[in-house]
Amino acid sequence: MFNIENFDIKLNTEFIGRNFIYVEEIDSTNTYLLAKENGHNINGTVILAEKQTQGKGRKGRSWYSAPDVNLLFSILLTKDKSLFNNANLINFAASLAVSISVENLYQLKTDLKWPNDVLVNGKKISGILIEAVSQSGKIERLVLGIGINVNQNSFQGSFNYLPTSLKNELGKTVDREKLLADILNNLELLLEKLKKDKSVLIEEWKQRCRMLGNRITITDNETEKSGIFYDIDENGFLLLQTKDEIEKIHFGDVSLY
Ligand code: BTN
Repeated sequence: MFNIENFDIKLNTEFIGRNFIYVEEIDSTNTYLLAKENGHNINGTVILAEKQTQGKGRKGRSWYSAPDVNLLFSILLTKDKSLFNNANLINFAASLAVSISVENLYQLKTDLKWPNDVLVNGKKISGILIEAVSQSGKIERLVLGIGINVNQNSFQGSFNYLPTSLKNELGKTVDREKLLADILNNLELLLEKLKKDKSVLIEEWKQRCRMLGNRITITDNETEKSGIFYDIDENGFLLLQTKDEIEKIHFGDVSLY
């Protein structure tokens, strides 16, 4: 069971995680925080679930996770509307936060995969799903959902990208409370950085993305495009160099060609 006291002692944030909800089971932490009717409006509210019955992944996929051993959580952002203009880069801040924590706490080398996966030894340990509610074209509330495979031993099923857990890569059980607190501490600093100068955040993200400069294929539903992963633009979109031009890619799954 997740020990909230041990988590709280290590949390150094001003607002993220200061309102903390812990549940044994829920459909999806993202769905829950996204619905205004549930009455949670405090900026930085975090909900952590031990089990999701309808965990959501990107592009309508499901996110499967063994109960009680991983981190399944969502963060509500309601206040800072300036951040909402850079919603895409909030994804970057989140994947960077996970990557920095994993490297600092466990000395495991991570690799960021556009737009927001975190890999260890070429396998996925974390996925991020950002969702928002808009009114009159303006984002009202934004939910950042993060799933991390922490202490899961084995993975069954077919996956878009081969999964692994921190425990599998390290060979020992990981303290979930310490990891979550560290990620939230990093995330708050990175969101601050994003507000001040987004180019610094993008640079940091790029330094951890080893696919940059390589020949890649981008798959989006039925379409497939290949080219050189040329760069990331100021909004976090991928720039793909094809034979004739540099094309801006908004969505897709990237793989090495
Ligand atoms: C992906 O890689 O496809 C994104 C996965 C995001 C999973 C997390 S788990 C917590 C939060 N609640 C959800 O339903 N999804 C996100």
